[in-house]
This record gives sequence, structure tokens and C-alpha cells, in this order.
Amino acid sequence: MCGIIGVAAQKGNVVPLIIGGLKRLEYRGYDSAGIAVVSGSTVSVRKGAGKIEHVVVAKGFEELNGSTGIGHTRWATHGAPNDINAHPHTDCTGSIAVVHNGIIKNYAELKEELVARGHRFSSETDTEVIAHLIEEELRRQGSFRHAFQEAVKRLEGSFAIAVLYSGEPDRIYFAKKDSPLVVGLGRGANFLASDIPAFLEHTRRVIVLRDGEAGWITSQEVHIENVYTGESVDVPGRVRTISWSPSMAAKGGYPHFMLKEIHEQPRALRDTFYGLSSDESLAKAAELLAGAERIYVTAAGTSFHAGLLFDYYMLRLAGRTVRAFIASEYEWFKGVPGRGDVLLAISQSGETMDTLKAVRLFKEHGARVIALSNVYESAIPRESGIAIYTRAGPEIGVAASKTFLTQALALLLLAGHAARISGRITRDEMAEIMSAASKANRLAQRAISVSEGVVRTVAKWFSKKGNAYILSRGIGVPIAMEGALKVKEISYIHAEAYPAGESKHGPIALIEPGFPVFFLLVDQHLKELKGNVMEMKARGATVVAVGPPRSEILSESDIHIPAPEAPPLLEPFTLTPPLQLLAYYTAVSLGYNPDKPRNLAKTVTVE
Ligand code: G6P
Repeated sequence: MCGIIGVAAQKGNVVPLIIGGLKRLEYRGYDSAGIAVVSGSTVSVRKGAGKIEHVVVAKGFEELNGSTGIGHTRWATHGAPNDINAHPHTDCTGSIAVVHNGIIKNYAELKEELVARGHRFSSETDTEVIAHLIEEELRRQGSFRHAFQEAVKRLEGSFAIAVLYSGEPDRIYFAKKDSPLVVGLGRGANFLASDIPAFLEHTRRVIVLRDGEAGWITSQEVHIENVYTGESVDVPGRVRTISWSPSMAAKGGYPHFMLKEIHEQPRALRDTFYGLSSDESLAKAAELLAGAERIYVTAAGTSFHAGLLFDYYMLRLAGRTVRAFIASEYEWFKGVPGRGDVLLAISQSGETMDTLKAVRLFKEHGARVIALSNVYESAIPRESGIAIYTRAGPEIGVAASKTFLTQALALLLLAGHAARISGRITRDEMAEIMSAASKANRLAQRAISVSEGVVRTVAKWFSKKGNAYILSRGIGVPIAMEGALKVKEISYIHAEAYPAGESKHGPIALIEPGFPVFFLLVDQHLKELKGNVMEMKARGATVVAVGPPRSEILSESDIHIPAPEAPPLLEPFTLTPPLQLLAYYTAVSLGYNPDKPRNLAKTVTVE
């Protein structure tokens, strides 16, 4: 996890740019932050524990001044979040400063070796070995460039690194393996960052770095080579202009990114629909699925819930069973997949380490892999045979919202095409699915408009509760799981989702008067849901019905959160937004910042 940024400018002070970039990267981790700049031929470092806003002031970041600098926002892995463990880390001489995202697996051996050679360490981090390793290599190699390369070659594990050296005050060295790093090419300044929104205000021209690539930036120059083979990279050939606008990454008048992103869902769905309607990769992926022996889907967190929707869509439309598994459990499948099998890996960031590991395992067994991601050329799409992209735009809120529904839409289209190719549905039926999918944006829009007012009031009541169940049936179950995850993540209320029929096999034991039980009203299962509502009512639960006004259920419910009518396969687009809003307004009622939930990071690049 963690976010890194580097700015090399021709003139002026880069400190405000680095602070701005860190604020945009804060979703990647926010337990400590730090900055280093070169002024004259001195490297100055300021850093400390706490949220960026606080550390910037407490540690006087703005007192620094320099035209080349690096910054870091941390999500602790090795060493507690405190001032000393905050990045940047320096070597013994204080002339090399390093920021790092990832984990250096062999840091203990390296540290032992360096300590034996007289290096003094001040932190408990794995990162500090990088600074000392470069220092050590610099004693042997004549040039910093070679010392940096040799040091990088000795690192095992994952890393995105940016390094300042007082002897080359206008340069930032970098290297990347298994953690994201992007170069931004601006006018009079070049950038390095973990993610594009960090510098989107300044440039849309980017190079997404690949594993094994290293090099340097100055304000005028970008040099990239493969650190292991020494091969140079054709920099102009790799530059892409991305279509995201800076306002897409700013709050746009909303109090929080999450609320903005919930409201952006209609736009995100429309873009995803039109983007994928004529997408060749989607067609190829559908063909692969249609011909697959076995189909697996894997992901983490919210993306896993989208994976469960895919399971549902494939069964309903293509008549195919899909084995869905949580990415971190990939080792279950050692020795299992074969050449005819297909894995679909879903990851909004494209960087989740567990999902990446699952992809690698399946590839080792000869299976074909399809990736669905929101981030162009991120690690998972790059390592997969076929990559499909949602068009949600950058998502800054740590808890996923718009990316979930865009994934759901992409997966509906994918399953529809696979069903058509395998002859399971007719051309007319496919046209119906396309026409229904083209309305997903309008359904989400109506769901937000009709539910938001009621949800605000319900959230005030709900914020006083400590637990909740969210129950449904069929397609409603993954939606309930996503809703419960949102509630847990940002309002810290313990919420669990269950198939409503399963609730009597244990969960119902916890029901006592006033216990909140939310029911998602999916049309195909109203009769059975009514039975489950009655069971909960009989034990004193406060029943909250979420969905269209179905009188037979509303007559037994205490509270109704309205949602519009939707065709069966499109219920995720109408039932998810009210739950996202519920989690959001509950968190706000409790005084929490929904954009930065405690202990969580948006992109989890550790196992
Ligand atoms: C983290 C985030 C979740 C996200 C999950 C998977 O846990 O906090 O919001 O759903 O990672 O992320 P991915 O980028 O792979 O979809």
C-alpha cells in the first residue's frame, strides 16, 4: 500500500505540488506522511505520524523549498505508524532519501549484512535498507546511477521506489516491481506517482511503468530502462494521453468523494455501457468463456461481490456454473486448473496482490485469464491474456461505490455475449439484454433520487445501532453482501449479509427487540421473503424494506426505503445505491470521514 510522489521542476518550489499530490494519494494509506526536497546540495526531510493535513502543519512541510522533491503517505506494514518509521528514509550520510510502496521480502538479510558493514539504522521499516544499500553500492560503483541499479537488483519482493540524491539535485531515480508507478510528463516539470490523480491537475500525458523498469526523471528528461536486462525503453512510444479530467478527481462540490462517486454512478454506467458495447476485448473474452471447460472468478472485497453477480448472470443467461473464490484463498486451487479453464480476475485498481497471485497461479497451470479492471494497464490486466476495462473514472473514496456498479454492468454484458456465442440465447434475447443494460444508468439515477431523502432520516436512527442484518434472496444476496461491507467499512457498525432463507440457521438467534434487519426486495422471491420478514418480526426485529413498494411486505415492515422497479437482472442498479447512501449518511451522522475509513486502504498490494 502507501502512496508515493516525486516532482522535478525546472524552477520554483515543488513542495505545494507534493503536498497536493499526497492529499490525492491519501486513499492509499494515511497513518503517516513525509517529504524530502533537495535544496542546493542538501537533502531535507520532514515526516511524522498522523493524517497528512495534520503532519504538514505539525512538521512544517511548508518551510521546505526546492525544485526537486519526493513525498510519501503510509499504510504501515513493517514497523508501527510513528514519526521514525514514516518515509522518506535516509542513508547514514543523509544524502540519499527513499520513499517506497511495497514490501522488501529479503530486508532482514540485507539489513544484517549492512549492519555488519557498519550501517546504522534508525527505523524498523523494510524500506530503510534501500537507502543504505544504495549508499553501500555507491562506495563501490563510481556513479549513482549504477549504484542505484545494483541496489535495486538485490531487492526481492514488491516495490515502487523514488529516490533523491544530494549529488544529483535535479533528478529523481525510480524503480518498479509489483507495485504501481506512473510517470507524468508536464510542461517544465515531470512527475512520478503511485496513481494518476496525484498529478492529474498538471498533466494528462502518462507512462504506466512496467515491472522491472527503472530510471530517472528531471524537469526536462525521462529515462527508462529494464533494470534486469539493461534494455532501454522507447519513452515517446510509451506516452499515452488519458481522458480523465482533473475535475473527475476533485470533489466537485460534494462534501466527500464517496458521495460524489455515488452520484456519479449514472455517468459511470453510461460511459461503461457505450465503451463496452463495441469493445473487441469483451467479445474475445466472451468467446473464451463460451469455449471454457471450467470457469472461475476471483477478486477481493467489493470486486468479489461483483464476481458473485457474474456467477448469477452466467448461470441465468449462459447456463454455466462459475466457481467464485476469494482471491486470498487462491492456494486451494494449486494443481487444479487445466489448459481448457478460464479465470476471470476482477480488480478495480488492478493491483490487489491477492488477486494478482491468483492470476499467476492459474497462468502457471496453463489456464487462460481475463481481467476486469478500472485502471488501464495496471498489473492484473497486464498479466492477463485479455483485459476489459470499466469506465468509472478515478475512484478516490476508499470504500468502492461507482466501480462496483460499473463492474456489474460489464459482467452482465460479458455473460450476455458468452450466452449468445454459445447459442444459449437468441439474437432477440441478446438485443433485449443490451437494451435493458443501456438503461442501467437511468435506473441508478432514479434509485438515488427516490431513496436519498428517506435514507438520510433512516441513517440517524441506524447510527444508534450496533449490529444489523441485510437479507435477501437470489440476485439480492451479493447486493446485500456489498451493502453490509459498505456499512462495516465506513460506519463501523457490524452488519452481516445472509441469504434470507439461511437466517433461520443461526443468525436469527441474535434477534431481540429493535434489532435492525434490512430486506432487499427482489421481485422473483417476494413470497419467500415475506415468510422471512414474518419470522424476524415475530422476534421483535425492526424490519426495513428496501425496494419498490410491495404492499404485502410493506404491511409487515417498520420502515421503507424506496427504490424503483427494475427488470430482474438489473436489480443491482436499483438496490445498491440506497445501501451505499445508508452507509454514507450513517458514517456522517456518527462524525466519521467516509472517504478515509480507519485501518483500510483502497489498494492492498500486500498479501
Ligand atoms: C480494498 C478496498 C476495497 C476493495 C478491495 C479490492 O480492500 O478497501 O474497497 O474492494 O481492496 O480492490 P480491487 O482494487 O482489487 O477491486
